[in-house]
Amino acid sequence: MNDPSTLPQGQGRPEPGRGATGSESPRAESRGERLVAGVSAPDDAQFDAGLRPRSLEEYIGQDRVRDNLQVSVAAARGRSEALDHVLLYGPPGLGKTTLAYVIGNELGVSVRATAGPVIEKPGDLAAMLTNLQPHEVLFIDEIHRLAPVIEEILYPAMEDYELDILIGQGPSARSVKVPLQRFTLIGATTRAGLLTSPLRARFGIVHRLDFYTDGDIAEIVRRSARILGVAIDEEATAEVARRSRGTPRIANRLLRRVRDYAQVRADGHVTGDVARAALSLLEVDDRGFDEVDRKLLRTIIEKFGGGPVGVNSLAAAINEERDAIEDIYEPFLIQAGFLDRTPRGRVATPRAYEYFGLTAPGRDSRLW
Ligand code: ADE
Repeated sequence: MNDPSTLPQGQGRPEPGRGATGSESPRAESRGERLVAGVSAPDDAQFDAGLRPRSLEEYIGQDRVRDNLQVSVAAARGRSEALDHVLLYGPPGLGKTTLAYVIGNELGVSVRATAGPVIEKPGDLAAMLTNLQPHEVLFIDEIHRLAPVIEEILYPAMEDYELDILIGQGPSARSVKVPLQRFTLIGATTRAGLLTSPLRARFGIVHRLDFYTDGDIAEIVRRSARILGVAIDEEATAEVARRSRGTPRIANRLLRRVRDYAQVRADGHVTGDVARAALSLLEVDDRGFDEVDRKLLRTIIEKFGGGPVGVNSLAAAINEERDAIEDIYEPFLIQAGFLDRTPRGRVATPRAYEYFGLTAPGRDSRLW
C-alpha cells in the first residue's frame, strides 16, 4: 500500500481457500523483495511519495484513461455533483492508487483509503461511510477481497447513498436506513474477473490500466530523476525504461538502485554504461526478466514440453502460489509475447524458446 498513514499494515486476512494476494500480506512483502515485482516493496512507499503525480496534467501515460477521467471529473465539478463511482483494474504497480489520489485532488476533496482484506466487520465500513463529507472519495484497494457481508453494505451505499442497518436480533430485529453524504467510491483490483457482478454493475466509470509504453516509462524516469536530482543521461534512461516491465513502480525502484551504483562505483552520473553495469549486478536482464520469470518459462519448456500446462501444475512445479502467477508474473510475460494463455493451459511461445537459445517445436509436434 502506498500510504502507510491511512492503512494498517500486516492485517491482510486471506480468504479461505485463496492465497494471500494483498500487498498487506506477509507473503506479498517477501515477494516485494523481488526487484522487478509490480507489488509494493516495504521501502517503496517513502521513496515513491514525492514522485507521485498529483494532477492529471502531471500524470504520464494511460492517455485514454486520463482523457476520459478529465472529462468525467470536469463534468461532475461543473454540476457540483459527486463523481460517479470508479473501478480501476489492472496489474500491480501501474498507478491505481496514485490515480485515486489524483482524482481526489482534481475533485478538490479528501480521499479516505482502505483495502478489502482490512475491513473485517460491517461496522468498520459503516463507520467510514458515515464519516464521509459531501463528494469525498472512499478508496478501497483490492476490492475483490471484500467479505460478502461487507460487500452487501456497499450496494445501497453506492446506489442510494444510504446504509441499511439491522438493529436487534430475532423476531424483533428491524432494519433502519441511515442516509449518507453523496460520495465517490473508487475501487481498485488486479482481478476484475473476481468481482461479483452486482458490485461491478454499480460502478459507472470503469477503466483498465495497461502496461506503459517504453516511451512513457522513460518520461516517468526523467521526471523522477529531475525531482530527486539524479544526473541521468538519455541512454541510461532508456536502459532503465526497457527493463521496467512497463511498470512505473519498478522504474522508480530501478532508478533508485542505479543511483546508488553511480554514487558508489562511479562519479554519481548515471550513464548508459553505469546503468547497464548496475542492472546486470542486480541480475535484471535486458527485458526486465528476473529469476522467477526465467524459472517459469523454463519449467513450461523443459518439464511440460512447452505446454499447455494448467496453472495449478505450473504453480506446484515452480513452488509459487497460483494467485501470484496469475496476478503478478504472467500478465507481463503474456503482454511481452513470451507466454500464451489458452483454454487448455499456459503455452511457451516461440519467442520464449528463442530467449533461451532454443528452437520451438513445430505446432504439430506439440499436438502429439
Ligand atoms: N510516477 C509514477 N507513476 C507516474 C505517472 N503515471 N506519471 C508520472 N509520474 C509517475
